Amino acid sequence: MDRIEIVEVGPRDGLQNIPEFVPTETKVALINALVRAGIKRMEFGSFVSPRAIPQMQNMDDVAAALEPTPGVDRMVLVPNTKGARRAIAAGFSSLELVISMSDAHNMSNVRRPTADSIADLKVLLAEIDPAHELKLRIGMSTSFHCPFDGLMDERKVLGILESLVALREGMEFAISDTTGMALPQHVKSLCGQAVRTFGNHATFAFHGHDTAGFGIANVLAATEAGIRTIDTSVAGLGGCPYAPGASGNVCSEDVVYLFKRMGVETGIDLDLLLDAGDIAAGLPGAVTGSHIRKMPRDRLFGTAPKDEAVCG
Ligand code: COA
Ligand code: ZN
Repeated sequence: MDRIEIVEVGPRDGLQNIPEFVPTETKVALINALVRAGIKRMEFGSFVSPRAIPQMQNMDDVAAALEPTPGVDRMVLVPNTKGARRAIAAGFSSLELVISMSDAHNMSNVRRPTADSIADLKVLLAEIDPAHELKLRIGMSTSFHCPFDGLMDERKVLGILESLVALREGMEFAISDTTGMALPQHVKSLCGQAVRTFGNHATFAFHGHDTAGFGIANVLAATEAGIRTIDTSVAGLGGCPYAPGASGNVCSEDVVYLFKRMGVETGIDLDLLLDAGDIAAGLPGAVTGSHIRKMPRDRLFGTAPKDEAVCG
């Protein structure tokens, strides 16, 4: 493994859990700091109902205030076709449609059963202008555990994935541990089957939370299954307002530091990422989750960039 692609989800998954409203200029400052750190893919926010997630009500203002970010994939989460139309109108061409593998979580999150979200995706795909180079990712929420139904059946999740892969060649699927309760062997098993079975028609990412403290172990399990795209959140902000008890995403700084130590390229400057993390951690109401943010920076950087020699 030479290289890992980090997808920064802090400006969406992170901020959506902060009750205090984050003003447009602060969101833009955080995004700019993340871009300066070398982030090349990022969830910039979401086009959801302002009643459901009041934090995202200024998405149009954020979009208007953004400076050009050449070379950066500006992804936004959408819950339905209406959100996709709003996102496209605001100038975004990289969309993540969130669909839960469990009906109970889909009902709670987007107020309809999973099959209705899939039907809505078909509507969206039918109305996309083929000349518009739209990137599409499906966020497969509750791929491992549902906060209401518990452990998910792998065959059921793979069956839903099969029906989604068939809808359009080349989509990306973010296999998501929404509750942060998945075990590493479960992550490796499901991700491995997805990559082996559908890898010629789709690409895969792993999106994990750190509720039970397995976050980093699960990231490595996903890489062992062949996944090379990992979602992380700056300062470890995050959680799903519709997954009671779920805590923050696996922390960007921790994951970048781990890969740096392993000699795996992420293209991200850890020092600048820690600066971006200071903005995130300083937001009123922010709940952080990070190991390396507790360490003095000189200790982090005093470490050999690649210590394969000691870990074989
Ligand atoms: N953006 C903004 N407004 C939207 C919208 C969107 N993507 N989708 C629907 N709406 C509006 C409708 O226009 C309607 O407005 P009105 O009352 O002024 O006419 C209102 O929301 C209700 O529409 P309806 O289709 O009945 O939606 P709902 O109340 O069943 O809510 C969602 C469904 C999907 C819009 C809402 O649950 C949602 O935004 N969920 C997102 C949750 C989320 O982001 N979770 C975290 C990410 S995993
Ligand atoms: Zn998440």
